[in-house]
Amino acid sequence: MAAIEPAVAQGRRVVVCVSGGIAAYKAAEVVRALVRCGADVRVAMTPAATRFVGPDTFAALSGHRVLIDLFDASGEVAHVELARGAELAVVVPATADLLARMAYGHAGDAVAATLLTVTCPVLVAPAMHTEMWEHPATRANVDTLERRGVTFVGPERGELSSGDVGIGRMAEPDDIVTAALTLLARGQDLAGRRVVVTAGGTQEPIDPVRFIGNRSSGLMGYTIARAAARRGAKVTLVSGPTNLPPPPGVELVRVRTAEEMHDAVVAVAPDADVIVKAAAVADFRPQKSSPVKLKKAAGPPEVRLEPTVDILAELGAHPELRKPGGLLIGFAAETEADPEALARVAEDKRASKGADVVVANDVGSSDSGFNVPTNRAVIATARGTRDVGLVTKAALAEALIDEIAGLLAEA
Ligand SMILES: Cc1cc2nc3c(=O)[nH]c(=O)nc-3n(C[C@H](O)[C@H](O)[C@H](O)COP(=O)(O)O)c2cc1C
Repeated sequence: MAAIEPAVAQGRRVVVCVSGGIAAYKAAEVVRALVRCGADVRVAMTPAATRFVGPDTFAALSGHRVLIDLFDASGEVAHVELARGAELAVVVPATADLLARMAYGHAGDAVAATLLTVTCPVLVAPAMHTEMWEHPATRANVDTLERRGVTFVGPERGELSSGDVGIGRMAEPDDIVTAALTLLARGQDLAGRRVVVTAGGTQEPIDPVRFIGNRSSGLMGYTIARAAARRGAKVTLVSGPTNLPPPPGVELVRVRTAEEMHDAVVAVAPDADVIVKAAAVADFRPQKSSPVKLKKAAGPPEVRLEPTVDILAELGAHPELRKPGGLLIGFAAETEADPEALARVAEDKRASKGADVVVANDVGSSDSGFNVPTNRAVIATARGTRDVGLVTKAALAEALIDEIAGLLAEA
């Protein structure tokens, strides 16, 4: 991770949530480091965490009372008070049980209730025995949280408290602090920017009930839209049909066909500082669509195809359709896992489509591309190519927005 200036934490409100694992004692180091960076740190603990380390340690290090009891006697609704001003929540360590409570939206203790109330980025440092981390229940909870945009740091492979060696050891306090500073630095770097994101596949009708579509779930585009909104952008999401809930704070424009997507994007392009074309738009559509359902008894229909409009190429070739200085970002779906091949595709497509950035991602492997929470990708910009590797779509979205924010800052 790149070195981040500790000054980004100056005066920023960080809520540190401590849950009940052996690694809880290391949370004291994280609190101390954040306080040294100038952060205004408040601590909440689960009752189980207090069995491992005393609340007085955190009160002394943070200079504030520690929230443990949900029914705190102070008169205010303490978890709401704690959550409201938070610019970052750091969960250190996160037990398997707390990950499950977070995934299911529980609010039965002060930590879970605070984490359900915060609207800021959440950083989680899990620590548990290997079997707990690898259990399908924990895997599913982690997937759920990552999809919601929670950032994970660790766990790592190493010696566990039991003396066993395996995955589950909490990330080192230094790495947790670096990850926290990175999230604080991201803050609102797209504030005041208008971002258009396209997502999902299109459906090209054959008749009123049948269409030609593709396997895109829309998750990549929705994740980018959510991340951009959280980083301060005013986001319009132009979406083909998906099963995903609209991300909070994002304007959603629903479309079905490539032509509808084209019209919706062209309508908002003149105001967009950034256009991210993450949708899997059909390249071909039936020349004719029957107005009535084709009868099975009539035998297999002959469906002749014609090309659809290439929205990315059109926006690339006609800068007058876009805001001056605006960035155009395309995706290339490839059945390639080799980073060098992905880099070549990304570079070629960037040049041929007139895009500023192209993300080439592998849609041919079971762990990457359509309908999975992870993606293997290479990002090409004028500065060169960056192999992001196999990461969660949330992490890829943040990496892409880091590039976008960098390019906007340079312009
Ligand atoms: C000695 C001891 C060590 C534990 N260490 C861990 C741990 O590292 N990770 C974990 O997920 N649970 C661990 N547990 C289990 C949790 O403490 C337990 O699930 C508890 O209910 C978690 O509560 P909390 O999530 O509210 O903090 C440990 C339990 C004991 C008794």
